[in-house]
Amino acid sequence: MRIAVLGTGMVGRTLGSKLRDLGHDVTIGSRTASDEASTFADAAAGAEVVINATAGAASLEALEAAGADNLTGKLLIDVANPLGTSGGTMTLTVCNTDSLGEQIQRAFPDARVVKTLNTVNADVMVDPSIVPGSYTLFVAGDDADAKRQAVDLLESFGWSRDDVLDLGDITAARGMEAYLLLWLRLFGSAGTAHLNANVIIGK
Ligand SMILES: NC(=O)c1ccc[n+]([C@@H]2O[C@H](COP(=O)([O-])OP(=O)(O)OC[C@H]3O[C@@H](n4cnc5c(N)ncnc54)[C@H](OP(=O)(O)O)[C@@H]3O)[C@@H](O)[C@H]2O)c1
Repeated sequence: MRIAVLGTGMVGRTLGSKLRDLGHDVTIGSRTASDEASTFADAAAGAEVVINATAGAASLEALEAAGADNLTGKLLIDVANPLGTSGGTMTLTVCNTDSLGEQIQRAFPDARVVKTLNTVNADVMVDPSIVPGSYTLFVAGDDADAKRQAVDLLESFGWSRDDVLDLGDITAARGMEAYLLLWLRLFGSAGTAHLNANVIIGK
């Protein structure tokens, strides 16, 4: 599959490398073209699937640069977190009554946005087995087919379908993104980013 990974940070590089290993035709997108990356627009134009792995506070800007036409009808997997800082503390730049996932879906109504993978570290995204045991990955989005397509990709990364919890429409991104405030404390307590949470559902 032709996949554009928008983002040259740790997440973009990790996802790009894994997707290439899996045999996909990957283009990395950046503000500036280089030997390793195309512009956001060129990357998205040639892709069947687009992954947003840009800094959350700048994702709308990055996707604008990618171009609405280049996102139309495509699965747009959003792994970004809208993190900022306030007085030295990590904060969410959008929360409570809105989320980055929703902002992206509203700004690009013809893209099929699926929020997922934002609750785990980049290494865990592409190799869930580095955290032993069974645990949960969330997906959310308005388009059921897009979610199915996203889960197929997640399965190819090593996620078990049984561990993927569909939280419903894209408004579930509010909770998925707010979880980052807890994740940061878990990271601090655990002393490693290789961690995850398990949702156990009773009868
Ligand atoms: N690090 C993790 O393990 C992890 C885990 C889960 C989710 N996430 C989320 O994944 C996303 C990527 O994280 P990261 O740590 O790999 O990288 P990052 O430093 O958060 O983002 C780097 C990317 O953002 C782009 N960017 C920055 N400012 C921009 C602007 N003003 N306009 C357009 N694009 C801009 C950069 O473009 P250039 O290429 O042009 O520099 C670069 O491609 C973030 O939203 C993060 O919260 C990270």
